[in-house]
Amino acid sequence: MPRSREPAQASLENLYRIFTVPEAPDSTLGQIDQAISDNLMGFLQDHIVAVERDLVEIERDFSQSRIPEEPTFVSNYTEFLKEKVVSQSVHTASPGFIGHMTSALPYFMLPLSRVLTALNQNLVKVETSRAFTPMERQVLGMLHRLIYDRDDGFYDQWIQDSRHALGAFCSGGTIANLTALWAARNRLCGPAEGFRGIAREGMFKALRHLDCNGLAVLVSRRGHYSLGKAVDVLGIGRDNLITVETDDYNRIDMKKLRQHCARLQSEGIRPLSLVGVAGTTETGNIDPLDELADLAQELGCHYHVDAAWGGPTLLSSTHRGLLKGIERADSVTIDAHKQLYVPMGAGMVLFKDPASLASIEHHAAYILREGSRDLGSHTLEGSRPGMAMLVHAGLSIIGRKGYEILIDQGIERARRFAQLIDAHPDFELVTEPELNILTYRYNPAWVQRELAAAVAEQAARINEILDKVTETMQKRQRENGRTFVSRTRLAPGRYRGDDITVFRVVMANPLTTEKILASVLEEQCEMAGQEENLVLLEQISRLCARTEQRSACG
Ligand SMILES: Cc1ncc(COP(=O)(O)O)c(C=O)c1O
Repeated sequence: MPRSREPAQASLENLYRIFTVPEAPDSTLGQIDQAISDNLMGFLQDHIVAVERDLVEIERDFSQSRIPEEPTFVSNYTEFLKEKVVSQSVHTASPGFIGHMTSALPYFMLPLSRVLTALNQNLVKVETSRAFTPMERQVLGMLHRLIYDRDDGFYDQWIQDSRHALGAFCSGGTIANLTALWAARNRLCGPAEGFRGIAREGMFKALRHLDCNGLAVLVSRRGHYSLGKAVDVLGIGRDNLITVETDDYNRIDMKKLRQHCARLQSEGIRPLSLVGVAGTTETGNIDPLDELADLAQELGCHYHVDAAWGGPTLLSSTHRGLLKGIERADSVTIDAHKQLYVPMGAGMVLFKDPASLASIEHHAAYILREGSRDLGSHTLEGSRPGMAMLVHAGLSIIGRKGYEILIDQGIERARRFAQLIDAHPDFELVTEPELNILTYRYNPAWVQRELAAAVAEQAARINEILDKVTETMQKRQRENGRTFVSRTRLAPGRYRGDDITVFRVVMANPLTTEKILASVLEEQCEMAGQEENLVLLEQISRLCARTEQRSACG
């Protein structure tokens, strides 16, 4: 085995070898490869994390800052990977992993990813991605049609038109949202008489040209934090990302939104874009997309819909109506690495108008020549892999009907889990699933009764202790490694707007059965009986007894 070999040598001959000769199939590399090809069966045993080691300990394995002087055999390196990296990776494909938006992958994505790596096409320009460029355009056309449903003539005209683009492919929802607002900004502040456009002259002169004090982007409080990065990068400023209050269903409050718009107008700040969310990150709720479209029209501003999570719901005939109004958006973000079950690194922004992306076009003499077919002229990123191929593969192999089943099943399973939670006396469903995300917490029946009768101050104290219970349980469950839910903080209306900590469940794996969901609750019930939680619940009990005594004494 490699360890007993002569040490690896840095020589031109050996370097040629690593570019040409593959490893022996029985090497560690071969074993890892095989385990991965076997669709991760047993790869990390049945646990979410094989052996839970403290992160600080793991960091120690990666604290050396010197680049290794001498070469090492690939087999030695993969031995290191197996021991120090693979074993500590998170088994995101486990059906018990229901806490994040990291979807399970259909098995074919693994061999196809190898094809992608082997071809190593660069989508920035046609010279390095011949078939991949038209394929990416086709994928964008398919997603555009899913949202905007234009006729054959429209797509015949635009899908491969090198001077236009129906959207931009990128690494994820963050860049997609940024690209949408970038195009919106450059369109609003485009070249006009006496002004060569914001892209050339910058924000200061743009505001002077528009005769206003600033630009604003408005989204609900549940909007994704990537919008904060976008307004920062685009020079709009984080203070001008207006996060609007939500109703009891985590949807933007239209009345409050109008009030914010009126205030901005009085301050001389111009709304650049309204952003609707179709599938909020924490609760999976959908904003009133039609009403937002009406308001954007009234204000004459851009209308973007962040459907990074919820967009693929459009593939379901049963549920696509939930996103009604999305077809009126100027731009829409969809992440393929979420509900299209593609590996990470696949996001898209689609534009209603094929001319929209012209506002961010960039050219360079050596590649992105004017009039060329290069996709890189209207993407934020430069060199990009051909991830669109994997989206193309998913759409072709799974098909619309296959995705429909996945979407319908995910929503159905989330509803079923909500029923299980509701039926259990010691759990409280905090947000019902509109799509396939829900939140809940452990709240024993007796505490629920106390909370219902408590005055504001006491309820706040009880909720603070329950927050600690949720946090402790969530950490412990992750460490146990059997199942995983995430946690977040929300302000449900029934708690007078106080933030509470909740478990968050995301259905992103078709192999998650009802039995697994029931086992999540069972495990949490077991944990509730452990010392650390009993101590916390005892605090609630004492708090309530004290208050009772006080009121009894008058
Ligand atoms: C609604 C929404 N928008 C945008 C994003 C950002 O996507 P990404 O992580 O792919 O950049 C997310 C990610 O969770 C999201 O849920």
